[in-house]
Amino acid sequence: MYDLYAGYRLIGAFDVARTARLVARYHYVEAQLMRVAAGKLAELPEWELKCLAGRHLWQDSLHADAWLTRLIDLRWPRRAPLSPGEPTRRLMALLDDAPGSAAFLAAVYRQVKPRLIAAYTAHRAACAPLADEPTWELLGRAIVDEEEQVRQGLALLESLPATERTAARPYEALVADACEAVGSLADPATAAEREADGSFEGQAVRPAPPVAARDARFRLGERAADRPPADARELAMLMAHRDADNEMHAAELLGRSLYEHPEMPWEYHVDMARQLWDEVRHAVLYQRYLEQLGARLGDFPVIPGNYAYRIGLDFPHRLYDLHLRGEKLGMPDLIRYREEARARGDAHYALLNDFVHADEVPHVKNGRWLRWLLKDDEEAFRRVERETMQIRAAYERAHANDPIVTAYTGLVPSLLDDAG
Ligand SMILES: [Fe+2]
Ligand SMILES: [Fe+2]
Ligand SMILES: [Fe+2]
Repeated sequence: MYDLYAGYRLIGAFDVARTARLVARYHYVEAQLMRVAAGKLAELPEWELKCLAGRHLWQDSLHADAWLTRLIDLRWPRRAPLSPGEPTRRLMALLDDAPGSAAFLAAVYRQVKPRLIAAYTAHRAACAPLADEPTWELLGRAIVDEEEQVRQGLALLESLPATERTAARPYEALVADACEAVGSLADPATAAEREADGSFEGQAVRPAPPVAARDARFRLGERAADRPPADARELAMLMAHRDADNEMHAAELLGRSLYEHPEMPWEYHVDMARQLWDEVRHAVLYQRYLEQLGARLGDFPVIPGNYAYRIGLDFPHRLYDLHLRGEKLGMPDLIRYREEARARGDAHYALLNDFVHADEVPHVKNGRWLRWLLKDDEEAFRRVERETMQIRAAYERAHANDPIVTAYTGLVPSLLDDAG
């Protein structure tokens, strides 16, 4: 009879306690890689880097989440992170200080992730594949993801100007030294097992840029077009350009919401990572549609409002303004875009908006973190709701011609009227 398990050896190098220590450290490393990348999104200018980081940090949130869940199986009594040990904490803090795009990519994809893959590979080769098949299985999946990530991250690094890559070398050497100080990530003797104050214990928060960075293709403007669109096709280009950029601004804001709140529960970070990845995909969807229409990123001005206005709000008001105001108010538009596109036979735009709309449902639902934050106090929730609307109304009154205000729709009415 065929025996699936015939080839599995019985012995393995790590018992339950040592496996738990390693799994706890993997959680910390993956969680912090997710968080640091989220924080970088608004700071680093390259559009393609934002796209790559958004996809990878979502994958890392899943890896980190799976490790945290596995910890309970391994006789640890609750789903709680353990301290990773001081050298690992220092290494992850150093990543956060990457002085630019090339430095960040070199540190993550040439230093840290290859070592993480090496640890996963060594652990998988050494562990008991039958007795510890759940860990063996998770390691295998994470290795596949991480190897793909490293290929993509290095390809992006290689596509940056040589001068930037050269300038990043001294910082990369510091990261390499910090990695050496950690030693093998798959050595349980170097992993601590004290329960930590959270998945990001000991990590600092860098200040937020007031405006999200854009690369040289883009130019900031006061409105989404320099002149009224000549015809319906140009209006469609303008809208796709605006929406690509606005979706990226949402991703960048979510990156900060994820990054700035290490004190929030782990599940909050997983939710934010997923929404961030969705917003990045939405940005790329509108970008591809724009290109299909014959235009490209940078053909129109961009307005920073979707990020720049909200980054100035405190945490509860930002949560309300993004998840419960912006996401919710935008949903009927997506259905309308889909129906109009169906009516005129534009299958691409119809399908795009259909899926974007489906994604927005959980994004509104993420507003439940505001209720959690306010301890389910209905009165406090209503107050934040009222204040969020008042703050925006006051801002709009005081800045009638401010691009941040017109940016909210991106299209001033006169432009739309002229397009007929
Ligand atoms: Fe990962
Ligand atoms: Fe979106
Ligand atoms: Fe959204």
